[in-house]
This record gives sequence, C-alpha cells and structure tokens, in this order.
Amino acid sequence: MDGIHTPDFWDFYRKKLIQDSVISDYSREKQSLNGEWHYGIDQYDTCLRNRWWQQHEYDKDGRPLPLDYSFDTWDKMKVPSCWNLWSEKLFNYEGGMVFTREFKVNKLGKNKRIFIKFGGVNYQVAIFVNKTYLGMHEGGSTPFYVEITDVIKENNRIVAAVNNTRRPEYVPMDNTDWFNYGGIYRDVELLYMPDTFIKNFKIALIPDGTFSKATACIKTDGALSSNAVLKIPELGISQEAKVINCAGEFEFSLNKDNLTLWSPESPKLYEVHIEYGEDKLTDLVGFREIRVDGRDVLLNGKSIYLKGVSAHEDSVENGRAVTETEIRENYKIAKEMGCNFMRLAHYPHSETAAGIADELGILLWEEIPVYWSIMFNNKDTYINAENQLIELITRDYNRACVFMWSVGNENPDSDLRLSFMSKLTDKAHELDTTRPVTAACLVDNDNLIINDRLADKIDIIGINEYYGWYDPDFSKLPRVLENSNPIKPVIISEFGADCKAGHTKQGNRDDMFSEEFQLEVYNKQIEVLSTIKYIKGMSPWIFFDFRCPRRLHHMQNYYNIKGLLSADKKYRKKAFYAMQNYYKGKAWS
Ligand code: GCU
Repeated sequence: MDGIHTPDFWDFYRKKLIQDSVISDYSREKQSLNGEWHYGIDQYDTCLRNRWWQQHEYDKDGRPLPLDYSFDTWDKMKVPSCWNLWSEKLFNYEGGMVFTREFKVNKLGKNKRIFIKFGGVNYQVAIFVNKTYLGMHEGGSTPFYVEITDVIKENNRIVAAVNNTRRPEYVPMDNTDWFNYGGIYRDVELLYMPDTFIKNFKIALIPDGTFSKATACIKTDGALSSNAVLKIPELGISQEAKVINCAGEFEFSLNKDNLTLWSPESPKLYEVHIEYGEDKLTDLVGFREIRVDGRDVLLNGKSIYLKGVSAHEDSVENGRAVTETEIRENYKIAKEMGCNFMRLAHYPHSETAAGIADELGILLWEEIPVYWSIMFNNKDTYINAENQLIELITRDYNRACVFMWSVGNENPDSDLRLSFMSKLTDKAHELDTTRPVTAACLVDNDNLIINDRLADKIDIIGINEYYGWYDPDFSKLPRVLENSNPIKPVIISEFGADCKAGHTKQGNRDDMFSEEFQLEVYNKQIEVLSTIKYIKGMSPWIFFDFRCPRRLHHMQNYYNIKGLLSADKKYRKKAFYAMQNYYKGKAWS
C-alpha cells in the first residue's frame, strides 16, 4: 500500500478536499444519522495510514488476516457531541478519532440521489462509505455535503476519521484564545434529491433604498432546460426564472406597500418557494436592507446604533455542541440586556443559531476564524480561509439577521496580511452584494490612532481595544478616538476585563479580577465611547465566561472570565447591569 509509512501519506487524502459543497437544504427531507457511533482513539492516524476503512480482512484465498481494529466492539459516543465532554479521559485529547456506524437507506423512490451532510466537524475529517474514500473536509465550523449515491447498498457502513490537531498552517492556526473541542459536534443527515436539483438558492432585497426590488440566484446540480418558478404566496408573487447552464440570476419587483420589512423589533419572515423540475425548496426569508451611508449604518433606511455583545459557541455542558435550548436562552438574555445584535466570534456558529436569530430578531455579525497571525504567505491557508468564507456565505445568505460578514480578527498589519485579507474582502463582496464586510482590527497603539490599512477595503471598521485592562493607561482611549477620523462607521468589537463571578475587592493583587474592577472598566469605556459620533455600535468582550487553555491564573482556572455572565449563564456580574442600563438609555454608572 503506497505512502502508508511516509510523512506524505496525508497527500493521498488531501488530493480530494471537499470544498464549496453547501446545498440549500432548508425544508428538505432528511434522514438523521445522529445517535450512537462507535469510536476509536486513533492517536497515530493508523486508520488512514493502514486504510482500516478498506476493511481488508481476508487474504486472496479467504484466510483471515490479523486486524488492529474492531469497529463494532468499540465504545459508543453520541453524535453530535464534543469528545472532550463525553469522557474524562478525552477532556484534553487532541488528535485522531475514528467514528463508525452502520445505516440503512430509508427510501429512494423518485429521489434517486443521496447526499450525506455534516453540520460541523472540528477540525478535519475524511469520509468513507462502504470501503470507498469520498473526500476530506477541513475547517471546523462550516457544513459539507458529499454524494454517496453510487456506493450505497442495502446495509451501509460509514467511517469518519476526525482529527482536531492544531497546526500553524490551518485556519485558525495552532494558537487561539478558546478551547479546541474535537468531534462531530453538529447534526449528521442523509438528504434525498432528484436527479437534477436546486443546489443553492439565494434571495435578498436589493439595498438601493427603494425596498421594491429583490435579487435571486439559483444554482442547480444537473442541467435541465426548463425554467424555475419562484413563489412568495403572501406577497402575491409567482414568476418564472430562467436557469441557464445550471445558474439563474434574476431581479423581481416587490410591492413595498404590502411588504413588512424584517427588523429586530418586527422579525417578519415570508415563505419562499422555488420549484425546478421535480425539485421544490421552501425557505423562510426576511426582507430587510442594510446599507452603509458615510459614517452611518442604515437598517431599512434608518440609522441604527448596534447594541451588541460578543459570544463564543460554548457551553459548560456541551462545549461547541450547543443545543437549540441553550441558543434560545442566550438570545433571551441578550435581549434582556437590551441587545439588538450579537457578534458570533470567532468562527461560524451553527445554522440553527442563525435560523433562531431570524425568528427572534437579533442581528448577527458572522465571522471566519482568520484569527491573529495565521500563515498569510501560505496558498493552502488562503484556499482554506476562502473556502470557509464561501461555505458560510452560501449557508447563511438567506438569513436576514446576518447583517455583515467578518473576514478576521486582530490580524497584525503587514503587507502579506493586507493582501490576504483584501482578497477575502473582495471575495465576500463578490459573493454577496447586499451586505457590508467587516473585520475586527487593531488600534495603531504607537501613534494612538485608528488607521488599519484594511479599512480601505472593508465597509464597517471593527476595533478591538482593551484600555483599562491589557493597557492600564485608560487615558489613551480618548486620545485614540480624538486622533482618528474614519470615513466609515466604527463598531468597537471588543473591550472588557476579566472578572471572577462573585469576587469582590479584598485589597490584594486579585482585586483586578473583582466585579468592582470590571464594572469600573465598563463605566469608563461607556463614558468615552458613548460620546464619539462615528462609533455606531459595540460588542463588548464577552457575553459569558468560556473555556480557554491559555488562562491558568487561579481566578481563571482554564476559563477566559471576561464574561458579563458566568459560564453557566446563571450569574450576572455587576458590569452586565451597566451595559443593560446603557443599552436601555438609562444612567449606567
Ligand atoms: C482578543 C481576542 C479574543 C480574546 C480576547 C481576550 O481581543 O480577539 O479572542 O479572547 O482578546 O484576551 O480575552
């Protein structure tokens, strides 16, 4: 067997990367493969090196061969889940993990093509069905789909070789300020599709200030000469749309007098149907307009102040496999705090989070994990980052709640970084002409000014600053803001301070982790930021405490404790109420 014992055995698998595979699957018929999968802790990637997935168990004369695996006697793990929280012995495990199960296909009927969808696997995974290698996906936060039509039998076995090892060339790289959970942590489903089907369907209001024109784009898999039909019954729309060479882009008119625009206060969603050949897709879509006008951010033509908070996809009980209940609880508390937006840092959160934000009326900043100093000079790193951006935008394009895409966070300014991030920004603008693009940039602390060169490309400038915490000299903040003269809107995408929930001043070194200290930082930040006209919003860091292997102070105990809430979201720190008062227009200090 070639390449098994050489370091480039990965090349065999990386030759077949699964990219840009997202299918618009809202409302599609699915068969869940969630549940108990057998798993093997495969620290040396032996499944891939020795190709266990071929299940080569007898020699040519039928004599049994010795095996180093026994798939169906292995322990079982619930999918979706993070293995770190499945068992004590796996809490800090980073490396290879083999998952496998058998499954039957429920039905074929007129839908003859079958795809398997993984909602999210951290960090990379190679997929095998019935001893056939189907491909590898990298990037731990976006969904991927792979066709299994040609390999399906009566009884089927799937093998998924997952690996969450951090590496400098990955996106994110090997150093981040969050916990590197591993596993198949979002849903796994089979999709049944007709021979020719709608692969991607995008629809949005054209941000031209008229609220009367929308754009739609249909990409099909498999060519059919017929047109598609777009229907929005509640708006009396039913019209044909040409689909040429598997793609059809068209504009259509909306009667703004009977259109209820989507907004946080009134999150109106419409049933949108697309019919194409034998395929029919339904999505629930809100129509709203986000536009930048000079230093203003306009939602449906009116200037909006973005009252936000940043959040990781993290929970004490489930890690990144956050449940719908936990997502709803987070949004409920954010709304109680007076938020109209959340910054879902630093990677794409689940599509469930976007769907519920559409339903409840919470604007979302969504982001790809181009975080800190990734390998800006590595072409595979760029391809990886761009693919994650494509998969995120394809997945969430129809979500009215998503008001902008962020191409990165806190990347030190350099020519290589500027070129890398500019290309990503261009790609985001190419894929989506209806939304602004942003990034969380750094202040030029030498010259005390906001002048990140990427600001020329992005539409809204995110700024992370920690005056009063990492830089104790708080007097720098008003100087930075006075020295700066941005021509675009600015959102303060991070400020904050650590604070151990319930810890009050004791008159010692640990007072920096007290609620009073955090409250003081918040009061001073709000006092200064609230006076700056070009600041159109903020998303303080962070909503709740979260697991972080870089935080070893006894007050932190392997958590980043900058939360306004405790990690279990049960305890609200004093600074939570300062933000709540500010957002609700009351005196905060
Ligand atoms: C940075 C970074 C966050 C990090 C935070 C902190 O701004 O963007 O990911 O958690 O600072 O140091 O707490």
